[in-house]
Amino acid sequence: MLRTNHCGELRKEQAGATATLCGWVDTRRDHGSLIFIDLRDRWGVTQIVFNPALNKDLHKKAEELRSEFVIRVSGKIGTRPAGTENPKLPTGQIEVVAESLDILNACPTPPFEIADQPNLSEELRLKYRFLDIRRPVMMKNLITRDRITRIARHYFSGLDFLDVETPYLTKSTPEGARDFLVPSRFYPGEFYALPQSPQLFKQILMVAGVDRYYQIVRCFRDEDLRADRQLEHTQIDVEMSFVKEEDVQEVIENFICRVVKEIQGKELKRPFLRMPYSEAMNRYGSDKPDLRFGLDLHDVTGILKGSQSRIFEDNFAKGGVAKALCAAGRAGFSRKELDDLTQYVKEFGAQGLAWFKVQDEVESPIRKFFSDEQMKRLVSEMGAGKGDLILVIGADWHTTCAAMGALRLKLGHDLKLVDESVTSLHWVVDFPLFEWNEEEKRIQACHHPFTSPQEQDLPLLDSEPLKAKARAYDLIFNGTEAGGGSIRIHDRDIQKKVFGILGITPEDAEEKFGFLLRALEYGAPPHGGIALGLDRLTALVLGLESIREVIAFPKTQKGICPMSAAPSPVQPKQLKELHIAFKQS
Ligand code: AMO
Repeated sequence: MLRTNHCGELRKEQAGATATLCGWVDTRRDHGSLIFIDLRDRWGVTQIVFNPALNKDLHKKAEELRSEFVIRVSGKIGTRPAGTENPKLPTGQIEVVAESLDILNACPTPPFEIADQPNLSEELRLKYRFLDIRRPVMMKNLITRDRITRIARHYFSGLDFLDVETPYLTKSTPEGARDFLVPSRFYPGEFYALPQSPQLFKQILMVAGVDRYYQIVRCFRDEDLRADRQLEHTQIDVEMSFVKEEDVQEVIENFICRVVKEIQGKELKRPFLRMPYSEAMNRYGSDKPDLRFGLDLHDVTGILKGSQSRIFEDNFAKGGVAKALCAAGRAGFSRKELDDLTQYVKEFGAQGLAWFKVQDEVESPIRKFFSDEQMKRLVSEMGAGKGDLILVIGADWHTTCAAMGALRLKLGHDLKLVDESVTSLHWVVDFPLFEWNEEEKRIQACHHPFTSPQEQDLPLLDSEPLKAKARAYDLIFNGTEAGGGSIRIHDRDIQKKVFGILGITPEDAEEKFGFLLRALEYGAPPHGGIALGLDRLTALVLGLESIREVIAFPKTQKGICPMSAAPSPVQPKQLKELHIAFKQS
């Protein structure tokens, strides 16, 4: 080894010994005649002193050092003079008095300082990711990700789960996003798809008798990017045989408790709350409600029905609903603030936002349309008192939930109601099996087409499939979906029926999922599973907004890697080999 110790290691007890350290020059300070270098590596920072009285030539050489030079230093470990210790650093009691210095590599002036500074341009950070990762905060993120991965491996293998790899070059599996396609050189015009998840393979592993499978696996989805979405993400993917929902949930809860305990030092209460989908939507306007604050939604359809307001009455006549929330102490919101909120909810499809300020009287531009009795009931339903603000949206159920859910989240954050010290985990269960895709005018799977209907809802598949509930569950972590899974269909006939409801013809089903249907015929056990998003889980445990902070080499919001400049054109020869030609449009 080029070194005897790393830069986070030396303590007072080692004073008097000699050490050789390697690393990057974090800072150089010239104090009178002494030169101080903070030498940094992955483990920390150690102060090196160059004293001209001890070695003039070495001191001269140290004058050449600049930020991010790579050096190797040997010297004697000394305790720092009284009053110059740094209590913030684990190595803050000591310094190494240099006796030799090798400059292993120079470095031009970096485009940004290697320090924990906010507001660095992300484009620049990603372009120089090798410098960005040197920043202690990024290093900590990668270390935490590694710790979670280790906990997962230890935990799942401890429970006899088998780590089995599944192919990356495969057939398209429908998880609701677009596939990335890989052209086949041997078969002109044919393509592999990169897996959106190992869903079908893990189910087939259950038919194969693996019984307990896990894999920490990359998944590829060509979807629009957001703070919590990447083109490739990593799942902790799990599947189990002979299980019910509770069995999968228990395994996952114990895992999450371990992660939170180890990384955050907090004990979570088990079992986690299980909230039906209908309650999540009705009370919070979201299928992934953030329970770290209140602002619950109340259905006020019954109270506001029968008013003089044309808008509300038209909505109710069409089967629409009205939902309200109460912002305590916010009756003082200005006209501008209310207009901004109205504008905001319009982005989610609401036509407008009605507001009622609870003062001595209820004040609202539409107060006159409602009776005193209605106002009294509204105030009482919302538990409102003087100085509170009641906000109401009336629209069809879906739009009302979506717009109110978004408004609730916005107010929760803007008014600083979210208790950031809380780690909130719960399940959302009893999802619908199907949903209506208005754009494409067709039924689609809420989770994926392999999710089992609830037993009592099987007859609904023939009569009213949109009313059938699924044996699906999502794990919600601080209002973000950290994982999702379900008990699967293990009966070939039910699977075929579900494909039929989804408008997949028997020929299509055979072509796309023939291998699954065949496997289901050959003794498929009841089975179920889940996948946790490792990137999301890591970001959530660390309290970070974006998963890009916990991925070494992520793509930007525009799907670009500024460091390698992917995606990029390829040689015409490569395209020719793949039988691909571009048409100018
Ligand atoms: P699902 O599609 O819900 O389920 O994905 C599981 C979890 O993976 C994470 N995730 C993502 N993270 C970052 N970027 C993305 N684009 C992205 N997409 C998903 C989320 C999500 O909860 N095969 C099923 C699982 C199963 O049924 O067992 C599946 O993939 O945290």
